[in-house]
Amino acid sequence: MIVLGIESSCDETAAALVNDGREILAESLLSQTEFHRPYGGVVPEIAARAHLENADDQVKRAMQSAGLAFDQLDGVAATAGPGLIGGVMVGVMTAKAIAAVHGLPFMAVNHLEGHALSARLTGGVEFPYLLLLVSGGHCQLLVVEAVGKYKRLGTTIDDSLGEAFDKTAKMLGLGYPGGPAVEAAAAGGDPERFALPRPLRGRPGCHFSFSGLKTAVRQTILALPEGPLRDADVADICASFQAAAGDVLRDRCARAIRMVHQTHPQAKALVVAGGVAANTYLRGELAALAETEGMELVAPPQRLCTDNGTMIAWAGLERLRRGLTDGLDFRPRPRWPLDPDAPPAAGAGVKA
Ligand code: KG4
Ligand code: ZN
Repeated sequence: MIVLGIESSCDETAAALVNDGREILAESLLSQTEFHRPYGGVVPEIAARAHLENADDQVKRAMQSAGLAFDQLDGVAATAGPGLIGGVMVGVMTAKAIAAVHGLPFMAVNHLEGHALSARLTGGVEFPYLLLLVSGGHCQLLVVEAVGKYKRLGTTIDDSLGEAFDKTAKMLGLGYPGGPAVEAAAAGGDPERFALPRPLRGRPGCHFSFSGLKTAVRQTILALPEGPLRDADVADICASFQAAAGDVLRDRCARAIRMVHQTHPQAKALVVAGGVAANTYLRGELAALAETEGMELVAPPQRLCTDNGTMIAWAGLERLRRGLTDGLDFRPRPRWPLDPDAPPAAGAGVKA
C-alpha cells in the first residue's frame, strides 16, 4: 500500500510517499522561510501564493524520486486543517484532483494527527501513548488511543511554546524562524544568569501558560544597560529561556504521565512531536523525565518534527488501511481540534 501526502498548512510546501512497510519512498519539501523573513513571520497571502505556485512541482519531484506513476498509488492524502486556510485549500485541491483523475481514495488529514502519528512511522509506537504536541500553533498533552481517537489532558491557556520561542528570538534580534535561532544562541549561554518564571509549575492539572515567560524576557532585555545587545547577554537570555521552558515541560509532562498511569496503565511511551520537538535540549530534558517515570521517550527525527509531507502521507495511510477515507466534497477546516469534546481552557488566545 502506497500513499502520497501533501502538506501546505503553514510555510512549507511538501509532498512525500510512504508505504505500509513503514518505508519513506520519497520526500520533497520547499521551505518558504526566505519569502517571509523580511516580515519577521509568516504572511498568509504570500504563503498561499507560494503554495499555489509550488504544490504541483513538489508532488512531481516526490513521484519522480520514487520512480512511481499515479496509477501505482493506493491513495492521496492532504492536510485539510487546521492552518492558514489559503494554503490548506491549495493542498486539498491538488490531492482531490489527483484522486479524481486516477480514481484513488482521498484522505483529509488533520495536520495535528500528522504530527501525532509520525512516531508510529519512525518508532513503531503502539497505542495508547502519551503525546506532547509542541509547535508554533499548539501546546497540548493528549492520550492517543487510536487513529482518530484523542483525549486532551492539557493545553495552553495563552501562547504556544513555539510562539514564545519565536517572540523571544524577535525581541533579541535573532530573526525568523525563532526556535532554531534561540537554540543555537543558547548553546554558549549561562542558563542560571536570569531567573525567568516557570508558569503553572507545581499547579494541579497539566495546562500550560507561556505569555508570562515571554513578558519576563522582554523585561529582562529592558533591564540591561542601554545600547546594542551584547552576544553574551543574548546567549544568557536564550539559555535561561530554554531552561525555564524545559522545567515547565518536565513538570507538566510528569503530571500528565501520572494521569495516564491511572487511566491507561498499558501506555509505555511519551511521544514528543511538532516543531519545538526538534530542540535538542528539550528532547534531552524529556528523555530524562521519561526515564525517571519508567516511560520511553519517542521523538521522530528532527526533520519530521517540523512540518513535512511524510507525516501527512503516513497519517493518510493509517486512515486508508482502516477504511477512513473522505469524499471529494470534504471542506478544509481552519480550526479542527483533535479532541472535540475537550472543554475550552480558560484564558485569551487559546488555539485548541
Ligand atoms: O510544527 P511546526 O513546523 O509548524 C506548526 O505546525 O506550528 O512548528 C513550528 C514551530 C516554530 O514556532 C519554530 O520556531 C519552532 O517550531 N521550532 C523550534 C525549533 N525548530 C522549530 N523551537 C525550538 N527549537 C527548535 N530547534
Ligand atoms: Zn505543524
